[in-house]
Amino acid sequence: MMKESDEFLDIAVKAARAAGAIQKEHFGASHDIQYKGESNLVTEIDLACEYAIKQIVFEKWPDHAFLGEEGGSKGSGEYLWIVDPLDGTTNYAHNYPHFCASVALQKGGQIVAGAVYDPMRDELYTAKRGDGAFLNGKPIHISAISKLEQAMLVTGFPYDLARREKALPRFNAMQRRVQAIRRDGSAALNLCYVACGRFDGFWEISLHAWDIAAGWLIIEESGGKITGLDGNPTSIYSEEILASNGLLHDEMVRTLGIRA
Ligand code: IPD
Ligand code: CA
Ligand code: CA
Repeated sequence: MMKESDEFLDIAVKAARAAGAIQKEHFGASHDIQYKGESNLVTEIDLACEYAIKQIVFEKWPDHAFLGEEGGSKGSGEYLWIVDPLDGTTNYAHNYPHFCASVALQKGGQIVAGAVYDPMRDELYTAKRGDGAFLNGKPIHISAISKLEQAMLVTGFPYDLARREKALPRFNAMQRRVQAIRRDGSAALNLCYVACGRFDGFWEISLHAWDIAAGWLIIEESGGKITGLDGNPTSIYSEEILASNGLLHDEMVRTLGIRA
């Protein structure tokens, strides 16, 4: 019989893969685009992916609670699935092939399993608490870069145009110090890329629990560090997150604090 923790990850993986299959099948087609805000959009594929993920979770555990970006909340209790059915929707709507599905399970307030699936590259990032992080089944680790001058970082900007102004001083301070900064439109993949050493650090100021729940565990299990922008412990419900390989963390906190 499968261990409980393996069953959790198994369902997270099935759900993330099912959503990824829908994303890939409809990639490049014309989409039904609705606006949730001035520049924050949602497609029919976001909704179809969330529906597919819910079906898989509830078929197995009908009494678990669910927090999905597109469907709001269902229930409460010890087990809570936190799901971004399509992270990188703006990329998706523009036929830019960088997006994923992110599925995490929180048990008693702690994330215990996470799966992030990028269907265009067929890359599956997974973690179970205490068991390491993996990319397509192979262990992954954060990078060994210890100087900001040699670091490639990634960030994102808020949908809300007024809040984008707030992000710029920190971006300016950081871009004066580092080798490179990318902005590629999927917070969940940003975290996974830090976990596997492609990026050395990531920060953003307007995130939601569904963007980061799975990536958070994947970062921790790969040896990385994740805090608030001030370096203090925080939670998946905080909007402001700083993740790094640990070696760069203090220097990133100092630089983000400059707000040039
Ligand atoms: C967004 C992406 C983006 C980040 C935004 C998120 P969505 O999620 O993760 O990279 O900058 O803050 O809201 O809307 O594509 O699911
Ligand atoms: Ca998202
Ligand atoms: Ca989304």
